[in-house]
Amino acid sequence: MERRKFFKAVGLMTAAAYIGPKVFGDVQAQVKPAALEGVPAEEFPPLPFAYNALEPYIDARTMEIHYDKHHRAYYTNFMNAVKGTALEGKPLGEILASASKQTDAVRNNGGGYYNHLFFWKNLSVGSSGPSSDLSAALTKSFGSFDKFKETFTNAAKTRFGSGWAWLYIGADKNLAVASSPNQDNPLMDLSPVKGTPILTLDLWEHAYYLKYQNRRPDYIDAFWNVVNWEEVNRRYQQALNG
Ligand SMILES: [Fe+2]
Repeated sequence: MERRKFFKAVGLMTAAAYIGPKVFGDVQAQVKPAALEGVPAEEFPPLPFAYNALEPYIDARTMEIHYDKHHRAYYTNFMNAVKGTALEGKPLGEILASASKQTDAVRNNGGGYYNHLFFWKNLSVGSSGPSSDLSAALTKSFGSFDKFKETFTNAAKTRFGSGWAWLYIGADKNLAVASSPNQDNPLMDLSPVKGTPILTLDLWEHAYYLKYQNRRPDYIDAFWNVVNWEEVNRRYQQALNG
């Protein structure tokens, strides 16, 4: 998509003018619209930054393959999996919330499609940090911001195999940290941890192996340099207000 069209699309999304999306749309009460990215699925959504934007923490070649091969494959496979079924045209949030009833293709590719949309948005450089509201909530749940980072980092480093680390708002309205296997996420009914995601980190080897090889802990440590706190703050505030 050319740049002008992309920003026009973003503007429409920001205005919540989700008119006639095939997949995204109204969702059940637990899932906030902001958490569903609001991206119509008629075409593969653009990456919100250049491939080299996160250098040196995440290299351009990794970003290109991650977005254009891996993420695109999840999108394509998900769209093919729902095509011609009762799921076609349903909100992605509704499909994820009923993951236990879906095929592996829908669960894995729908999760992969959603998780990567989420991940790109919570990445940037030059971000300031958590808002005062979010800082207070992090301190309440973890004791301090540093303790939160330590908890999230530990959850990411100890996830066996492929998966994702999450900061999310649980049913008790408090912030919590967990990791999920494969392409599962806290929006799925089959997930042992459920809630509204605020921040995530991709722990699949395809996210870091070209640059970091087997050194996943180095990739996780580097991640803290490219967290888009403005987006995390926005998600937190929107979840509270929703
Ligand atoms: Fe990934």
